[in-house]
Amino acid sequence: MAARDDPPNTARPADDRTWSAVRDQAADCRACPLWEPATQTVFGEGPVPAQVMLVGEQPGDREDDEGRPFVGPAGRVLDRALADLGLERSELYLTNAVKHFKFEQRGKRRIHQPPGAAEVKACHPWLESELALVRPELVVLLGASAAKSLLGSGFRVTQQHGVAVPSPHARLVTATIHPSAVLRARGDRDTAYAGMVADLRSSLELLA
Ligand code: URA
Repeated sequence: MAARDDPPNTARPADDRTWSAVRDQAADCRACPLWEPATQTVFGEGPVPAQVMLVGEQPGDREDDEGRPFVGPAGRVLDRALADLGLERSELYLTNAVKHFKFEQRGKRRIHQPPGAAEVKACHPWLESELALVRPELVVLLGASAAKSLLGSGFRVTQQHGVAVPSPHARLVTATIHPSAVLRARGDRDTAYAGMVADLRSSLELLA
């Protein structure tokens, strides 16, 4: 409810209030078992609406602690790519297909586990809500889990990266590798990074 001293309705508040309400609901999500060992729901962040939305897989260890997407090692790769493309992170809406960190505890370490189809499906309504509120013109799906969530299991990032795919979710939907795939590409990290940046660049060029 609006407080007495709230300013009258201006450009963003209506959207913002709705977005905040959805984020608050997601904080109590019990749609799959991942909520229990996780520290918190990591919802998306960024302007509402936003022209560009990037969708990752799920929060990692750091994101789970901090409650924000892409603040760990994969986030540093993404930040470098955004800087190389001349983009400000604060201009984009960043989120994930799955909003809780899935991990296996090994001693003191929490080892990332990829989300299963059931977890991606259970989380899908939150992503749908974000898409409806953020209304991006371009959605870039980072990696297979994000691509599966929006484009189904038949989509192959390795074959269909960097090109627009018909989708009801936005005028332009494209995919590229996940920033953590760059970190995993031990022998050829530079090539993997360059490929991801090239896909992001060609996706952004489609906006023109
Ligand atoms: N990997 C993701 O997919 N999302 C994050 O927020 C962090 C790492």
